[in-house]
Amino acid sequence: MENKLYIKSYGCQMNAYDAARMADVLRESHGMALTADAEAADVVLLNTCSVRAKAEQKVYSALGRWRGWKQRRSGRIIGVGGCVASQEGEAILRRAPWVDIVFGPQTLHRLPTLLDHARTVGRTVDIRFPAMEKFDALPEPGATGPTAFVSIMEGCSKYCSFCVVPYTRGEERSRPLDGVLAEILTLARQGVREVTLLGQNVNAWLGATHDGQYADLATLIEYIAAVPGIDRIRYTTSHPINFSDRLIQTYARIPELANHLHLPVQSGADRILSLMKRGYTVAEYKSRIHRLRRLRPDIALSTDFIVGFPGETDADFQATLRLAEALDFDQFFCFMYSPRPGTPAATLPGQLPEWVKKQRLHALQEGLEKPARAHARAMVGSLQTVLVEGPAVRDPEQELCGRTSGNRMVNFPGARSWIGAFVSVRITTVMRNCLRGQAVAPQQLAVAS
Ligand code: SAM
Ligand code: F3S
Repeated sequence: MENKLYIKSYGCQMNAYDAARMADVLRESHGMALTADAEAADVVLLNTCSVRAKAEQKVYSALGRWRGWKQRRSGRIIGVGGCVASQEGEAILRRAPWVDIVFGPQTLHRLPTLLDHARTVGRTVDIRFPAMEKFDALPEPGATGPTAFVSIMEGCSKYCSFCVVPYTRGEERSRPLDGVLAEILTLARQGVREVTLLGQNVNAWLGATHDGQYADLATLIEYIAAVPGIDRIRYTTSHPINFSDRLIQTYARIPELANHLHLPVQSGADRILSLMKRGYTVAEYKSRIHRLRRLRPDIALSTDFIVGFPGETDADFQATLRLAEALDFDQFFCFMYSPRPGTPAATLPGQLPEWVKKQRLHALQEGLEKPARAHARAMVGSLQTVLVEGPAVRDPEQELCGRTSGNRMVNFPGARSWIGAFVSVRITTVMRNCLRGQAVAPQQLAVAS
């Protein structure tokens, strides 16, 4: 009775992680079970994202659809969380009076109280940023497979001129070292083999230690590599200005550190980087990548680009195309600039029309796809160490799927008993969104990064 929870989550990995933690807290406090069927649910939570285009309108039109759901049975509750909730706050209750709870990324641990309040007293809003309270209050995570996300930071203090995150998630705050390690030890005991450390600027992490000092990400990675059972470590997302020499050196020393780096560059023009308030030049970005590639020549590099930033000229865009070509990215994410209310870039002169942004987006994607496909083709015939994550979606009876150290998905025939093991796979074919391969000597399962 009144115990089924449906969560619809939009946006980044941080949001996916937060959605999982919402399910954890309500399971602990109210014995709520997740359902994939909204009609069976008593509580619906929308975990929203406001990084790009028309996020607010999308949330309000989604809420319009949920209104009927609520009316079909009495006692149903609708909660809105995430970055749009954080930005809009009370306005959501005014524009969608059928919403019961509005909570932010930093108050999701208070859901049990907010739910009780909504059921007994009435509608409620809590979108504050109460320091590290969230991490202390959340229950121990439960592993759901051989890979796990571990959030080590909240918020962002970089204030890139285009980005809404510092306003919706608050200032950068690092979780203390011991708490992070305790969570990873628990996950390792539950069978997790690979962790991804999460934060908007995860390489700015500076965690307090029990003796009053601070540890940086390079130190944290060293400690995690020593945890028995954890054989692969990833982290995302990084900021180029915090991609320090100490962190780069870690790639030479720690084989558990995955052979992949996501380092958003955003633009190939110094003038635009400065307007974006990114804090680095193209030459500085390149020099960090060159230093890294000296230590790990075959590292897979991925990035984010924004096209059509206010004032971006054709020459600036050509510089972005040249950078894309010069750095030979393995994977990429390109976005059309989207003015976000309340951010400095939204009021800059020189806002570009949509058609220019679209044209540039297509041109950049075309330029980046060639090297990305060439990287994939070059992998054919190579042996990759794949951590088996589960049955493949396309043929779950016969096939498994997993990820290479360089973050490529691979499907291959194999037995369910291999799930959670590192398997050597010979790559045979490049598919549209993944690779296919054949396990080699699967009886001797490899343990490596
Ligand atoms: N912390 C990361 C970093 O160092 O850049 C990025 C976080 S942001 C949520 C993810 C990506 O969304 C950014 O790298 C950027 O490319 C894109 N993005 C953020 N705000 C945007 C906007 N207003 N318009 C278009 N793309 C945007
Ligand atoms: Fe956004 Fe820049 Fe932080 S992109 S999340 S303000 S590093």
